Amino acid sequence: MTKAREQWGTRIGFILAAAGSAVGLGNIWKYPHMAGEHGGAAFTLVYLFCIIIVGLPILLAEFAIGRKTQLNPVGAFWTLSGSKAWKWVGFLGVAAAFIILSFYSVVGGWTLKYSFLGLSGAFNELLPGSEAASQMYDAFIAKPFEPVLWHLIFMGLCILIIARGVKSGIERWSKILMPLLIVILVILVIRGVTLEGAAAGLEFLFKPKWGDLDAGGVVAALGHSFFTISLGMGAMITYGSYLTPKSDLIRSSLAIIVLDTAIALMAGIAIFTAVFAFGQDPAEGEGLIFVVLPTLFPQIPGGSFFAILFFFLLFLAALTSAVSILEVVTAYFIDEKGWDRVRATFLFGGVIAAVGAVAALSMSGYNILAPITNFTFFNLLNVVSYKYMLPIGGFLTAVFVLARWGIPQFIEELKYGLPGFKAPVAVVAAFFIVAAIVVAYIIIQEIVAVVS
Ligand code: TRP
Repeated sequence: MTKAREQWGTRIGFILAAAGSAVGLGNIWKYPHMAGEHGGAAFTLVYLFCIIIVGLPILLAEFAIGRKTQLNPVGAFWTLSGSKAWKWVGFLGVAAAFIILSFYSVVGGWTLKYSFLGLSGAFNELLPGSEAASQMYDAFIAKPFEPVLWHLIFMGLCILIIARGVKSGIERWSKILMPLLIVILVILVIRGVTLEGAAAGLEFLFKPKWGDLDAGGVVAALGHSFFTISLGMGAMITYGSYLTPKSDLIRSSLAIIVLDTAIALMAGIAIFTAVFAFGQDPAEGEGLIFVVLPTLFPQIPGGSFFAILFFFLLFLAALTSAVSILEVVTAYFIDEKGWDRVRATFLFGGVIAAVGAVAALSMSGYNILAPITNFTFFNLLNVVSYKYMLPIGGFLTAVFVLARWGIPQFIEELKYGLPGFKAPVAVVAAFFIVAAIVVAYIIIQEIVAVVS
């Protein structure tokens, strides 16, 4: 524990790493399919509203808690509160990290598989609206070994990056992969908007039809605003803990939120222009990316090239997010248990890989939950973390700032790196109260939905 704690090398390195965490499957896979199911532009507006009202205060709170304490989530809550009870909020985060990564890396494996399918020309014969693409997807998921193998490769890459540490692992790779991701996305957006019939897709995404937005859509938008900025499990506390006091938290947070939102919208543009240009159903659901898109690429001149780019983009986004989740677990064992980074990363990365393999198998007829329920183990991990653990973690973070740490102390922390910063305590407190109420609302809605 005598070694100096690691730190980010540059401000832009930190912003790209945190944006890399935020930009993930949530932006390119989840956001488009949810917007497709809940009325397009109306859903998007609610989601943007939630990002500002809930996302920004909680992101600032996580960064401030991390930078102030220079510790992982467990140590951070413990140190700042001086009470063992709050330490459990940190534990909830580490547990959520464990659970999320176990299924996230399974989907990460799919993105790798689909990149290779694109390379091999497997989509070339597919026709829009045909069953062949969904059969291809179902057949892959149902295989016992292949999805497990791709998942293990994906986890292996995460482990290798995290084992190298903050500056030469996370930061170095974020500085390479994030610009690459943006370039690929810009190419895909240009391809999308120049398709004949693209305008209908843009209209769907940007012209609100409020009638299509249901209560479920509002709750989904709230929940998604959490997931997409990686809030509620201490990932941003961990990344904030590698900052020096000189850094300006407010400008960095805004930059991260703008990048995350812009990338989600660009992914939406690239996808819906193609979906509408070929008259497909935007409300296809979770299969939108893996089932609908592969049938559209062959219709586009140079389509196999764009197919490879698209799935590789999805893979890059997933990888930079997955590393941030693994870092939460690793940081905990380094700070609290005094473990060596390489040992912590390989051991716990390995355990997560094993749990993930069980999750991947649960989708192919080897579901360990089969004797009790027909819910797959994969879905259990997904639902428990995404719907409950993250919102509860976010709610407790807001309550912590309001009731334990104190708004004046929080504002004091924001002033480092931005000396002239002034904010009335009442206004900041109001933001956190609103955020806490909104999050409590999501949690209650989710519980009501299960009970009824
Ligand atoms: N934000 C990522 C996405 O949009 C997922 C993610 C990474 C995440 N780290 C997280 C979600 C921490 C919640 C908490 O795909």
